[in-house]
Amino acid sequence: MDAATSANVDGIAADCGGLMTCATCHVYVDEPFASQLGAPDAEEVAMLAFTAAPSQPNSRLSCQITLGLDLNGLTVKLPPTQY
Ligand code: FES
Repeated sequence: MDAATSANVDGIAADCGGLMTCATCHVYVDEPFASQLGAPDAEEVAMLAFTAAPSQPNSRLSCQITLGLDLNGLTVKLPPTQY
């Protein structure tokens, strides 16, 4: 989320600034990275119920993804709307 907002990526609103209270940083994570991330915790799962676009099995809140060398090449798809 920070990387996307710093780069002015349209489609990542991140209204709460990463406090996990808005779900406007919703992304669909491509494989193999979706599997690498592991399962979202219970709080993230709860917030994924409030995304504007339908959640999918590979839905994540981008503010909960910590970038590292292991995620080099990470690609995500943006939902059609965040609101
Ligand atoms: S930035 Fe608000 S939930 Fe991720």
